Amino acid sequence: MIKFSAGEEFQIDVEPAKSAFLKVKEMEMSGWLDVARLSGQVPEVLAAAEKIRSDSDFLVCIGIGGSYLGHKAVIDALAAGASSRTKVLYAGNSLSGFALEKVISEIGDSDFSINVISKSGTTTEPAVAFRIFKKMLIEKYGVEGAARRIYATTDANSGALHAEAVKNGYTRFVVPDDIGGRYSVLTAVGLLPIAVSGIDIQALIRGAAECSKDLDSAFAYATLRALLASRDFDTEILASFEPRLATFSEWWKQLFGESEGKNGQGIFPAAVNYTTDLHSLGQYLQDGRRNIFETMLIVPDTKCKIQVPEMDTDVDGLKYLEGKSLAFINEKAQEATVEAHRAGGIPVFEILAPASMGLAAETLGGLIYFFEVACAVSAVMQGVNPFDQPGVESYKKNMFRLLGKPGF
Ligand code: PA5
Repeated sequence: MIKFSAGEEFQIDVEPAKSAFLKVKEMEMSGWLDVARLSGQVPEVLAAAEKIRSDSDFLVCIGIGGSYLGHKAVIDALAAGASSRTKVLYAGNSLSGFALEKVISEIGDSDFSINVISKSGTTTEPAVAFRIFKKMLIEKYGVEGAARRIYATTDANSGALHAEAVKNGYTRFVVPDDIGGRYSVLTAVGLLPIAVSGIDIQALIRGAAECSKDLDSAFAYATLRALLASRDFDTEILASFEPRLATFSEWWKQLFGESEGKNGQGIFPAAVNYTTDLHSLGQYLQDGRRNIFETMLIVPDTKCKIQVPEMDTDVDGLKYLEGKSLAFINEKAQEATVEAHRAGGIPVFEILAPASMGLAAETLGGLIYFFEVACAVSAVMQGVNPFDQPGVESYKKNMFRLLGKPGF
C-alpha cells in the first residue's frame, strides 16, 4: 500500500536490510511489529473515549517525546475532518509557563479530563504539568470526581505514575513492556487521544496491518538511506506539500533522531513544509551544500473542492489557471520541485500513499508502520540499538543538579 520510489536507477541489494529486519524482530523492544496484538486494546480504548466525549469539552494530554508526538501527528492531520465535541489539548511537552497558561485559559470553566502518558512515569515535564492540572481537577470536581477524570497510560507495574494511579483508582492503560515511547503510537498511548478526537482507530490499525504484509518498500528506503550516508549525505529532509502533515514530520524527526543518533553516527533528520518553505529554505536546498537528500511524502488531496475562479479580466495573469483545483496546482508544484531538486544534485525519494485513499486514518497507519520498520532497520544496519536513548539523560542530570533534586 505505501510505495517507495527513488526515481532513478540505483543498483541496490536489499538483503542486508532484510537481515537487519530479522534482527529487529528478535529484539526485546519489537512488540510494535505485531499489529494483531495492538488491536487488542481497541475495545477498552473506545469505551474510555466514549466516556470522555460524553463528559468533557477538553481532554488534556500530558506527555513528551514518544508519549505525545505520534497522536498529535494523527490528530493534527485528521481531526478537522472528524466529529467530536471533545478537543484534545497538549501539556507537559515543554517547561513553558506561557504554554500552560494558554491551555488553562482555553479550558476556562469548561469540563475537562486528563490523559497523563508516561511510560517511565518519572519524566519531569509531564509530572510537573500533571500536578498542575490534577490540582485544577480536584478544585473543580473534588478528589473522587477528579480521579474519575484521570486516565493514566503508563508501565504495567512500575514508576511513580503507576503507583499513584493504582492508589487513587485512575483508569489505567498499559504501555507494553516490549514497546518504547517513539514506537508506541498504535498502542493506548496514541489510540486513546486519537479516538477521543473522533478519528477511526480501527482504520489506523488496518493501515498498519496492510503495510506489514509487504515491507519491500521499507527495506528499499532503509537501503538507500544507508547508501547515501556512506556517500556523505548526512542530512535527510522530510518534505510534504500538505501543512496538516507538519506534526507528522515532528514525529518522524523524533523517531529517526532518537533511534539513529548514537556513537557519533546517524543521519540528521530535518523537515520542511512546502510550498511555504520553498520560499525560505528552497534556495538552500537548490543551491547550498550538497550533503542533503530529501524524502517526499506524497499524499494526494482527494477532497479539495476549491478551484481558481473565472473572472472577466486577466489583470492578475491567472487566466491559465481558471477552473484548476488547488490540489492540481499543488501536485504540479510537487512534481516541479522533485524535478528541480534532482537536477540540482539532491537525491529525492518519494513515499507514495495510495491515490484512492488520500489523507485518511488508514494512510497514516500505513505511514507510521512503514517508517517505524524502516527506522529500526536503518539503525540496526548502522550498528546501533534503535530502542534506547542514553543521550537524553545528560541534560536531565544537569537540570536535576541545578534544581537541587535530592541525590544529584
Ligand atoms: O521515545 C522515547 O522513548 C522517548 O521520547 C520518551 O517517549 C520520552 O522521553 C518520554 O518518556 P516517558 O514516556 O517515560 O515519560
